[in-house]
Amino acid sequence: DGDVFKYYTDGAWKTSSSGKSVPIINPTTRSTQYKVQACTQEEVNKVMETAKTAQKLWAKTPLWKRAELLHKAAAILKEQKAPIAECLVKEIAKPAKDAVTEVVRSGDLVSYCAEEGVRILGEGKFLVSDSFPGNERSKYCLTSKIPLGVILAIPPFNYPVNLAVSKIGPALIAGNSLVLKPPTQGAVAALHMVHCFHLAGFPKGLINCVTGRGSEIGDFLTMHPGVDCISFTGGDTGIAISKKAGMVPLQMELGGKDACIILEDADLDLVASSIVKGGFSYSGQRCTAIKVVLVMESVADALVEKVNAKLAKLTVGAPEDDCDITPVVTESSANFIEGLVTDAKQKEATFCQEYKREGNLIYPLLLDNVRPDMRIAWEEPFGPVLPVIRINSVEEGIHHCNASNFGLQGCVFTRDINKAILIGDAMETGTVQINSAPARGPDHFPFQGFKDSGIGSQGITNSINMMTKTKSMVINLP
Ligand code: G3H
Repeated sequence: DGDVFKYYTDGAWKTSSSGKSVPIINPTTRSTQYKVQACTQEEVNKVMETAKTAQKLWAKTPLWKRAELLHKAAAILKEQKAPIAECLVKEIAKPAKDAVTEVVRSGDLVSYCAEEGVRILGEGKFLVSDSFPGNERSKYCLTSKIPLGVILAIPPFNYPVNLAVSKIGPALIAGNSLVLKPPTQGAVAALHMVHCFHLAGFPKGLINCVTGRGSEIGDFLTMHPGVDCISFTGGDTGIAISKKAGMVPLQMELGGKDACIILEDADLDLVASSIVKGGFSYSGQRCTAIKVVLVMESVADALVEKVNAKLAKLTVGAPEDDCDITPVVTESSANFIEGLVTDAKQKEATFCQEYKREGNLIYPLLLDNVRPDMRIAWEEPFGPVLPVIRINSVEEGIHHCNASNFGLQGCVFTRDINKAILIGDAMETGTVQINSAPARGPDHFPFQGFKDSGIGSQGITNSINMMTKTKSMVINLP
């Protein structure tokens, strides 16, 4: 069926024997935009075998050659930014400019992986035995980093390209092969991205991309004995995966409820622009979005006024028009967001704007005077709705931040660097941004979530290291 995008394995594009497809609904038009193959479990088994075989050869390919291919793929990816970005616009309603930025950022990420990989994997360790009591200098230990094997990469809908290559780049440079399971929304952008790797000339079977329904192949993939590592970014599913997965390294980045703590001496113009960017870009559908504002009561009125003035200037509409606020990814997501808004309404939060929804398009909304008994104080809307909680002490802010089950990032705004550092130390999150909104990038910075926000640390260097294991060789002298 020419209408259905093929899946990719063994260096070729294939049609599933299931005869079934999965529709991808355009969030803006709410009608089917594309269709992808609904792969079967037998096909997954074959893909795993292929990936395993290809990895053995790839591990023997010199590091500099691996790097060369990655650089080539990065260049092709950047050349192909327009058609890939178009998919992002249609599949996940990412504003047109941001969609292009995602692809370019991905190319840069892949090149950086190549460079970082040749440096850090080109080094090993050499130890001698006589530093440990009772030993002569009779044993030399050589250690190096070797690949894990087959990496299962599962990126989320909000960055189907960037959060795929943030797994693929480190995996490949470290000598691993890949099975990529893209999100349904974003699958076609991911397939285009995989095509760039195909064009770069990577060996057959090294990169594979299977599409399909989570109910059919989700658990089957994550529990598959052929998988040597799972790198997952997404929501609660990650917690379920971590309970079911075998004894393999897991890299997980899950949700967040990033708090923004604002002190009395903060630069309120900077705070307001950071809140609008941090809370509302891509309509709040970022794990690192500001998801709760904790502001000192004495500056709260002034801040809310400034934020509202900026929100009034945001454009709302179609991603093709490069609007700031675009439809959220699915109808069920819009319904979930609406549920949080309704709950806040019933519990008498102050609505700074009127709540407005057209299909999946939700207008930006700031909710003031939110209290801890409201769902939105704790839950992640993943939409353009932001709660403001007024606090009377810094401790109250830190307490709210730390009472969350999430611990991805957080931010603090103050002109007093000493206070900022003390507060940053007290916040139980993987990263604290001082005087800026949370963000993952630059992509070589370590990126990690505490508590329900994740396992392990990402960022290019950490991901490369995580996708290797240490191997020792001990030379025993006579
Ligand atoms: O959605 C989760 C992403 O890792 C956030 O990345 O901070 O670049 O938007 P970002």
